[in-house]
Amino acid sequence: MDILDGKKIVLGVCGSIAAYKVAQLARDLTLAGAQVDVIMTEAATRFVGAATFQALTGRPVLGDMWALPENGAVGHVALGARADVVVVAPATANRIARIAAGMSDDLLTTTILATRAPVLLAPAMNPQMYASPATVANVATLRGRGYTVLEPDEGRMAEHVVGKGRMPEPHTLEGAIRALLGRSGPLGGYHVVITAGGTHEPIDPVRYIGNRSSGQMGYALAARARDLGARVTLISGPTAITPPVAVTLVRVETALEMQSALADAVADADMLIMNAAVADFRPIEAAEQKIKKRGDAGLTLHLVPNPDLVAGLADRREFFKVGFAAETNDLLANAQGKLERKGLDMIVANDAVLSIGQPEIALTLIDRGGVASLPQQPKATAAAALLDQIVARFQRWLLH
Ligand SMILES: Cc1cc2nc3c(=O)[nH]c(=O)nc-3n(C[C@H](O)[C@H](O)[C@H](O)COP(=O)(O)O)c2cc1C
Repeated sequence: MDILDGKKIVLGVCGSIAAYKVAQLARDLTLAGAQVDVIMTEAATRFVGAATFQALTGRPVLGDMWALPENGAVGHVALGARADVVVVAPATANRIARIAAGMSDDLLTTTILATRAPVLLAPAMNPQMYASPATVANVATLRGRGYTVLEPDEGRMAEHVVGKGRMPEPHTLEGAIRALLGRSGPLGGYHVVITAGGTHEPIDPVRYIGNRSSGQMGYALAARARDLGARVTLISGPTAITPPVAVTLVRVETALEMQSALADAVADADMLIMNAAVADFRPIEAAEQKIKKRGDAGLTLHLVPNPDLVAGLADRREFFKVGFAAETNDLLANAQGKLERKGLDMIVANDAVLSIGQPEIALTLIDRGGVASLPQQPKATAAAALLDQIVARFQRWLLH
C-alpha cells in the first residue's frame, strides 16, 4: 500500500508566485490516496484560484477561520489535531516569521500552533529576503523546534533574479512528505544501504563494458524503504532515471568504486540490499587513449575478475544482507548456492532474460526458512511488495 494512502495532509498555500506549482503537488498527493485539505492565505488567493485546489483535491478549500462549517466538524484546531502532516508550500517570509513568533490570527497559523503532526515548510522568496537576518533567524528557530524547513533551490526566479530562494519542485516536496510520514514506519531509525544499476568497466576513455540493468528496481526499493522510515543510502551505477528524493545518493561507475562506496556506507548500516548488477569482470587496465581501429585487425581484451563485493564485507558489523541473483538458467539452484556462498540472509532470484531492462518482473525469494514467490508485475509494485517481504524477514532477524 502507498504510504500516502488515507493520510490526512493539511496543505497551507501562501502568497508567492510559486503557489501555482503546489497545484501539481495537491494533485499528486490526492492521486496517491491522501486526503488533502488546502488552506489558502488571503495573499495566496491573489496568485491561484481556490477552484483549482478544490477541483484537484475534491475537497473544499479553507481560508476564513470564522467561516467554518456550522456542525463544528472542522473547528479552528480540529484540522491540525487530526492531520498526519502539515505542509506549508510555498512558505513566504511573512508566514515563516508569523509561525516562528507563535501567532495564531488566521486558520493556517492556528492550525500549525494546534497540531502535533510533523510540519514541513518549503520557503519560496526572493534571494535577498531569504538571506535577510530576520528570515535566517526565523528559519533557525523553526528548525530548532523540530520543524522541517527545506532548503530552497538556487536558480532563476520569477522576477529574473538569480539566487537561492526558489521553491523545490513538487516531486521533491512529495519525497520530503513521504520521508516525514515514514518516520514512524517499520524501518524508522534504521539505515538501509541499497546498490542499484549496472557498473561500467572502462576499456578506454570513451568505451566501457556494461550491462542492461536500468536501476529501476533498486531506485523503487530505495523509495519504498524511505517511505517506511529508513535513512537510505543509494549507491548507484550510471542510470538514466530520476533518483528518489530524500535519500542519500552516491554515484559510482565501476565495481571497484562501488566497493569503496559500500565500505563507507555499511559502517553503520542495519540492512544491505545488493540490487546492482555488478560486472564480474573488468579490463585489466583501461587504455589511456582511445583505441584506434587498425585495418582488419581485431581487438582482444584481457579481463580480470572483480572482487565479490558482499564477501568483502563479511567481517564487518552485523547487518541484514539481501542479495539478488539474475540468472539465465538453473535459477533456484544457482540462487541457493549464492545465498550460502556469500553468507546472505536472503536472496531474491529472477530470470535475467525476462527481467533486465524490462518494465515487469517475477521474483523468487529464498532464505533459510524456504522459498516464496511474487508474481509477475510492474517493477514499481514488485519493489514495494518485495520490500515488505524483506522487512518481515528483517524483523524476524532482529529478534535473533
Ligand atoms: C507579485 C508578488 C510576488 C510575491 N512573491 C513572494 C514570494 O515568493 N515569497 C514571499 O515571501 N513573499 C512574496 N510576496 C509578498 C507576499 O505575498 C506578502 O508578504 C504577503 O503578505 C504574504 O502573505 P501570506 O504569508 O499570508 O501568504 C510577493 C508579493 C507580490 C505582490
